[in-house]
Amino acid sequence: MKILVTGITGLIGSALGEHLKKKGHDVVGLVRNKSRADQSTCFHWDPLSEFLDPEALSQVDGIIHLAGENIAKGRWTQHRKDLLVRSRVESTRLLAGRIQSMDHPPKFMINASAVGIYGSCGDQVVDEKTPPAKDFLGQLGVAWEQALFDLDPKKTRTIALRFGLVLSTHGGALKAMLPSFKWGAGAVLGSGRQFVPWITLDDTLRAISHCMDRPDVKGPVNCVTPAPVQFQTFAKTLGRVLRRPVWMRIPPILVRTIFGEMGTATLLSSCRAHPKKLLDTGFEFHHPDLTEAFQDLLKH
Ligand SMILES: NC(=O)c1ccc[n+]([C@@H]2O[C@H](COP(=O)([O-])OP(=O)(O)OC[C@H]3O[C@@H](n4cnc5c(N)ncnc54)[C@H](OP(=O)(O)O)[C@@H]3O)[C@@H](O)[C@H]2O)c1
Repeated sequence: MKILVTGITGLIGSALGEHLKKKGHDVVGLVRNKSRADQSTCFHWDPLSEFLDPEALSQVDGIIHLAGENIAKGRWTQHRKDLLVRSRVESTRLLAGRIQSMDHPPKFMINASAVGIYGSCGDQVVDEKTPPAKDFLGQLGVAWEQALFDLDPKKTRTIALRFGLVLSTHGGALKAMLPSFKWGAGAVLGSGRQFVPWITLDDTLRAISHCMDRPDVKGPVNCVTPAPVQFQTFAKTLGRVLRRPVWMRIPPILVRTIFGEMGTATLLSSCRAHPKKLLDTGFEFHHPDLTEAFQDLLKH
């Protein structure tokens, strides 16, 4: 199949491009940096000014849309919040609008979304039927997914993959945490009782392939392992695998002071998300256990 991937320069997108090529697919990407667009494997777009090279969609069988301004890059000023929303919602609308005007639209469009849509739910187990939260990430998720689900389902199958924390040593949260944990200065954030919904990058790529290949998978899909753990377990397990102590605790007030609303919504939020749809449709995780996942990720 010919697959168009947005966010192909990012953590998930760059690994996904290689994964899909190994499976025999043709992969083309959309990038904002014009100088990277070679007009054969990479095409230019600028979602905020509604520009999309029309050639990019030619003969495409499926779209995987991962692009979006990084959620955890800094404190959420009003300007950043606008960018977080617009980079996701307007880019999805742009792609969906172009698809709708095609005689032969792609068979599927898979969008990134996030389990942040559920908000902070304490110990409550949440699955794809749980309603979204009313906070910023909840409403961002609703607008992002709605822009996708507005597509005609009879022409294009749509899936919103609600990612948890994607674990990789090449980027994202784990790469950022590793230096301090390796120095024995790893810390438990907040009370440590907040649930962390996690998944390895390898299982993320396999879950995306699963959604592409299974015509019965549609709508929102939680992309997390069935074994979320509390942050204190997450941090202590990482310390144990690295053979380093984890004795520090950063109180919630300090997290809020340093990171503001972003810290409260991402680092202190508790989400015990369950991958009901993936399991119901026969997906098997390579890394369902956190200790084994860390051992595998850190063995190189
Ligand atoms: N990684 C995780 O743990 C995680 C968890 C939950 C949800 N997600 C979601 O999954 C998606 C992919 O995650 P990732 O970790 O691979 O992200 P990433 O490494 O931050 O990459 C995101 C990509 O989006 C594009 N981008 C950045 N800012 C943009 C903007 N203002 N407008 C349009 N495009 C922009 C960039 O592509 P170009 O610069 O080439 O255009 C970049 O390659 C994101 O939407 C993210 O929110 C990720």
